[in-house]
Amino acid sequence: MSELKLIGVSVKRGAGPVISGVDLTVRSGEILALVGPNGAGKTSLLESISGVIDHSAGDILLGGESILKRSRVQRSRAGLAHIEQGRAIFPSLTVRENLLLTAKSDAGVAEVLGSFPELEKRIDARSVLLSGGEQQMLVLARAFAQKPRFLLIDEMSLGLAPVVFMRLLPLIQQIAKSGVGVLLVEQFTHLALGIADEAMVVASGRVSHPQGPASELVEHPDVLRAAYLGG
Ligand SMILES: Nc1ncnc2c1ncn2[C@@H]1O[C@H](COP(=O)(O)OP(=O)(O)OP(=O)(O)O)[C@@H](O)[C@H]1O
Ligand SMILES: [Mg+2]
Repeated sequence: MSELKLIGVSVKRGAGPVISGVDLTVRSGEILALVGPNGAGKTSLLESISGVIDHSAGDILLGGESILKRSRVQRSRAGLAHIEQGRAIFPSLTVRENLLLTAKSDAGVAEVLGSFPELEKRIDARSVLLSGGEQQMLVLARAFAQKPRFLLIDEMSLGLAPVVFMRLLPLIQQIAKSGVGVLLVEQFTHLALGIADEAMVVASGRVSHPQGPASELVEHPDVLRAAYLGG
């Protein structure tokens, strides 16, 4: 089993730290939910893992090796995929063309469609014509087509109703079951906890509840409430 491990990771943006001293471990085949209020630093942390921005302290290990000196592209090649907050599909391209960007070949596209049968029906449609839920399904499929070892997901539900987002949850679980380690940042906390193996809470740039079984947070909603209320 492989791990994505953060040890005391801090990130600065502009003058000050936006997140400090984060320890976490994502294991292959498991989902770790990272939840916390707006501005907690979740996006910044994910961006520092994939190399969109620099970290300022600590270490990030992929399969036991530090990836800090690696560029974003090198991290991606090493098996790290990142679904960025607010980033979407290429609307003027068809579903197939969007998938080809990461699947690289028709065979690769066919393989991904095996796990995303709903997209198969829309394969030659311009992506702009897909519903919001289908577009996010495509975002997920495109990341899966990269055959990542670890997948960082930042607020896939943005702009979606909970019932629409719920249709994506089994797909995320299926990706994890295939052996991918998933770090899931999600505003619909209860939905994220429902599919996560482990969970942790960040608030105001710090870990306010360390990584542990997701069921602990489900059973103690007061811990979550305190983080969201600034307690
Ligand atoms: N590009 C930027 N430059 C400077 N500061 C930034 C930048 N992006 C975010 N910040 C600041 O960093 C802090 C953490 O923001 P971040 O977006 O990482 O939080 P978040 O937990 O993802 O929030 P949300 O739930 O709203 O997505 C905030 O105070 C924010 O204002
Ligand atoms: Mg964010």
